[in-house]
This record gives sequence, structure tokens and C-alpha cells, in this order.
Amino acid sequence: MEKQEKILIVDDEMGIRRLLHHKLAKAGYTCEEAENAGWALEKMAANPAELMILDIKMPGKSGVELLPEIKAKYPDTAVIMATAITEATNAINCMKQGADDYICKPFNLEEVVVSVEKSLEKRGLELEIRDYQEHLQQKVDEQTREIRRLFLGAIEALVFALEAKDKYTAGHSRRVTKIALAIAKELGLSKDETEDLRWGSLLHDVGKIAIDQAIQNKPTKLTPVEYEHIMLHTQIGAGIVKPVVNDRVVEMIEHHHDRYDGSGLNQTVAGEDIPLAARIMAVADAFDAMTSDRPYRPARPVEESLAEVKRCTDTQFDPLVVRAFIKISNSLPVIKNGQVAARKTVKAKRIR
Ligand SMILES: [Fe+2]
Repeated sequence: MEKQEKILIVDDEMGIRRLLHHKLAKAGYTCEEAENAGWALEKMAANPAELMILDIKMPGKSGVELLPEIKAKYPDTAVIMATAITEATNAINCMKQGADDYICKPFNLEEVVVSVEKSLEKRGLELEIRDYQEHLQQKVDEQTREIRRLFLGAIEALVFALEAKDKYTAGHSRRVTKIALAIAKELGLSKDETEDLRWGSLLHDVGKIAIDQAIQNKPTKLTPVEYEHIMLHTQIGAGIVKPVVNDRVVEMIEHHHDRYDGSGLNQTVAGEDIPLAARIMAVADAFDAMTSDRPYRPARPVEESLAEVKRCTDTQFDPLVVRAFIKISNSLPVIKNGQVAARKTVKAKRIR
């Protein structure tokens, strides 16, 4: 029966090549011959064989020297070393170098066929296992991405639900995201950094789920203890998203209330040690908060809010980010004709 696999017989003795060729062709294999290493490499380059029978001792480059080259260039080709009985030690060393089997001269042709069959069977199994592992890894990666997407979508929906419940914060995260992404574009952040910033901005206040609603909506000035309680949302939020986002997004959420001069509550870093995305989010978050009604004050006009952001440059905000923000502030979708754009009621959103 004709077999699929092609065998390349590499031996300097024509008689041996013909003998093997004849026997293996009868067993159904397609065979080619090469009388030296150079020819063998040319034939492999033109059409790689599934199996090579390689004579250990050949004039010029020997089989021992050719083996590592073949294994490096054609790792999927099985190699059987052909050797005189007196060179068996050499053959065993070749197996340590990646040869699949060895056959001894003078050949027992039935044993040669068995060795070929076994080597090809082993090769087939190895390829199957590799293929399975590659597909398995691909499948696992796909599933991981899907689980992550669903989980992030669920957290995002939770954030929107939390905000929608409160007229003061409805739509806050989406507006902060729009502003932050506009600043990121102006600053030339990479695609990956921008995607992280998008998630960081959408989820930055998720930790408020653990914050006392009465304190959040308090119509008068917060006491230091209340302020400290509210600020816990950065750590809590970072903890909530940590299992499904990368470290950059976690840090962004953790540091989004950090002040540039380092004077914020329990702050561990300052200046450019605060992640850039967190410095961007700080400006976007503060601007949206200023231009929104709060339980303790009405929304501040855009002009006044922009002036306040500028005033807080170097203390609360990074000057680089403020410059970019001021530059793009006129074209922000959340501002229309110098006024805060009308805000629609936030509706439930389908998970992407
Ligand atoms: Fe916040």
C-alpha cells in the first residue's frame, strides 16, 4: 500500500542506497537518494522528507556532522542513522543528538522497515501532541480573554449602575473616560497605554461600592475621618479589578487621587513617579467633578473650572497633562460652546 511519507536515503555507496530504496519502495514509501551531505541538504531544501536514513560514515561531511544541521533546520524530520556494527557507539551518541533510531550494516531489511515504521509512528505522535498543545493553548487563551471581557463588562455595568443610582454621579465614569482618552491622544500614548487608560477610567471609582452612601452624599464639608473613609475607594477599587486587569490598570486606579506634589492622603509616590495614566485621570476626574452638581454645591462653569485646573498645576496636577488638557478642552465632547454639554440619562448598556 502506498504511504504518504517520503524517505531520503543518504549514503555514499550506491549499492546500499538502491537496496534500501527497493525495499522501502516495496513497503509503499516514496524514496529519494543522496550520495553525500551536500546533495542531502539540496534535496531537503527543495522538498523536505519526513524521514532520513543517514549513513554515519561518508566522505566529506559525515552523517554525524550532518545530523545536528538537519535537526536544526528540519526538526520534524525523523532521522535513522545507518552504521557498521563496529560503530554502534557512534550511533548511540547520534541518538543523544536527536536521531530517532539506528540500523546496523549489513542490514536486515525487515528490521529496517520496522525501524522506519516505528520512527514515523513516533514522529506522527509527536506532531499530533504538538498540534494538540498549540490548539489547547490557543483555546485556553481565547477562554481567558472571554472570561476577562465578561468580568470587566460586569464590573463596568456595576459602575454604571452605582452611578445611575445617584443623580450627582450619573455618567461620571464615561465622561472621565472621554476626557482622559482625549488627553492621551494629545500626549501621544500608545494603543496599549490608551486601552489600559480606557479601562482604568471606566472602572476608577468601582471601589465606591464599599463607601458609605450617606458620607458620599453629605451636603456639608467632610470631616477628616469621612474624607479618609471616601479615599479608601482607590485601594478597594484596585483590589476589585486586580484579578482581571494588568498591573498598569491596577496602579492607575490606586493612584488616581494622588497629588502631583505628593501631599495627598497616605500618598506613597509623587511627581513623575505617579503613573502617567493616573496623572491624566486625576485631571479628567477633577474637571468632571467640578463641572457636575454636587450635594454641597452646584456645577461650576467651564471657564471657572478650567481656571481652577490651571491654578492647581504643579500642586495637584502634572503641568504636562494640564497643558495637553487645556489645549484640547475646546474640542472635548463633554463641552459645547464653552458650556458643559447637556447630559443624557445613563441607560443600561449591553456588555461588549
Ligand atoms: Fe475617585
